[in-house]
Amino acid sequence: MVLMLDVKGLKAFYDEAEVLRGVNISVGKGEAVAILGPNGAGKTTLLRAICGLVRCRGKITFDGKKINGMKTHERIRLGMAICPEGRRLFSNLTVEDNLLLAGNDLDVAYSLFPRLRERRKQLVKTMSGGEQQMVAIARALMLKPKLLMLDEPSTGLAPIVVGAIGDAISRIRDEFGISILIVEQNIHLAFRVASRAYILVNGEVVREGKTSELQEIEKEYFEV
Ligand SMILES: Nc1ncnc2c1ncn2[C@@H]1O[C@H](COP(=O)(O)OP(=O)(O)OP(=O)(O)O)[C@@H](O)[C@H]1O
Ligand SMILES: [Mg+2]
Repeated sequence: MVLMLDVKGLKAFYDEAEVLRGVNISVGKGEAVAILGPNGAGKTTLLRAICGLVRCRGKITFDGKKINGMKTHERIRLGMAICPEGRRLFSNLTVEDNLLLAGNDLDVAYSLFPRLRERRKQLVKTMSGGEQQMVAIARALMLKPKLLMLDEPSTGLAPIVVGAIGDAISRIRDEFGISILIVEQNIHLAFRVASRAYILVNGEVVREGKTSELQEIEKEYFEV
């Protein structure tokens, strides 16, 4: 498979603390891959390192180019986008103003989420959690990425809304051909969307494989 993202031997640090300890992951073109793992495992740090927001060592290749040392805006220009943990929207702005801060072409966002077109003049702070998550995903799509990274999109959402978000992520891959890297603690959403997964524990990948072959990990890593 042709790779969209290839991460080799990635180590990341906050001050002296080593938070990622030699992580290897890859995402193929048109593939959806999940990163699973407990709180504090380093999942968010991994996405931030890929975006150039955390000091790290190792090799990151994106769409055939080595991107170590590139600034975040340069990486975004090459075609990566992140939908961050906690959404990070401008809650006092409207849906449309949030989207227009990231790009000009609203059609892709509105074709994926027709409800956002209906609500385009609504202030984000007055929307439901599920609607806000749609805005966050749509905003990342405004960058027209080749790789969309999502950090725990299911957080705080009711199961039925999680299902709708999962359907939208699957459509992003299938209809737009965008590769997906999704961080999730909701294993059901991760397995619904991704065909492959990595389990990250304490800064290291401890398991990887096809999601169809990892069904038993729920017991191993996610039961208290
Ligand atoms: N800015 C920071 N400065 C110092 N330490 C940090 C910083 N951000 C994260 N850490 C630490 O790095 C480790 C990994 O954090 P990270 O946020 O990547 O985990 P996570 O897997 O995303 O967890 P969660 O599931 O809770 O979102 C944790 O021990 C955390 O305390
Ligand atoms: Mg996190």
